[in-house]
Amino acid sequence: MRIGLGFDLHRIKTAARGYLLLGGIKIPAPYKVAAHSDGDLLFHALADALASALGLGDIGEFFPPGSSATRAMNSRRILDFYLGRMKKSRKKLLSVSAVIVAERPKLGPYRERLRRALAQSLGLPLDAAGLTFKTFEAMPALAEGSIACWANCLLK
Ligand code: C5P
Ligand code: MG
Repeated sequence: MRIGLGFDLHRIKTAARGYLLLGGIKIPAPYKVAAHSDGDLLFHALADALASALGLGDIGEFFPPGSSATRAMNSRRILDFYLGRMKKSRKKLLSVSAVIVAERPKLGPYRERLRRALAQSLGLPLDAAGLTFKTFEAMPALAEGSIACWANCLLK
């Protein structure tokens, strides 16, 4: 068995009709996520969790931020890269879980939709994809300026 842990944090900027991208799902938000790629921090944290569990270099090593090849990149591709490496090393994903920290919007109402999408795209049973949400407890710099995600994965 192998456990991997990943983390990601992005700055946010107030925007009237903004959105947040989580696991490929667009969620309306009062801000835009500053990012070189598409800013899907759930995919980024999960990809780094897989990288770590497999003993591979992290996403910055394989998909350098700032390079023209990764600009506005669909982060699903980053995750798929590590899933491919996992299969090559004959390992199987057993479960993933993630904590998303965002002051707003309220993510609870999206939990089941996000979990279903995640489980389906990772080939996992629904109860093997867990998502929890937290606020930054209104701590100004963090709450108004950022979103963050921790993710882990279990491989056998
Ligand atoms: O951060 P805090 O402990 O105050 O969050 C309380 C609850 O609010 C969380 O356990 C979660 O159920 C919910 N929440 C949410 N969406 C967020 C942040 C928190 O649904 N963006
Ligand atoms: Mg990121």
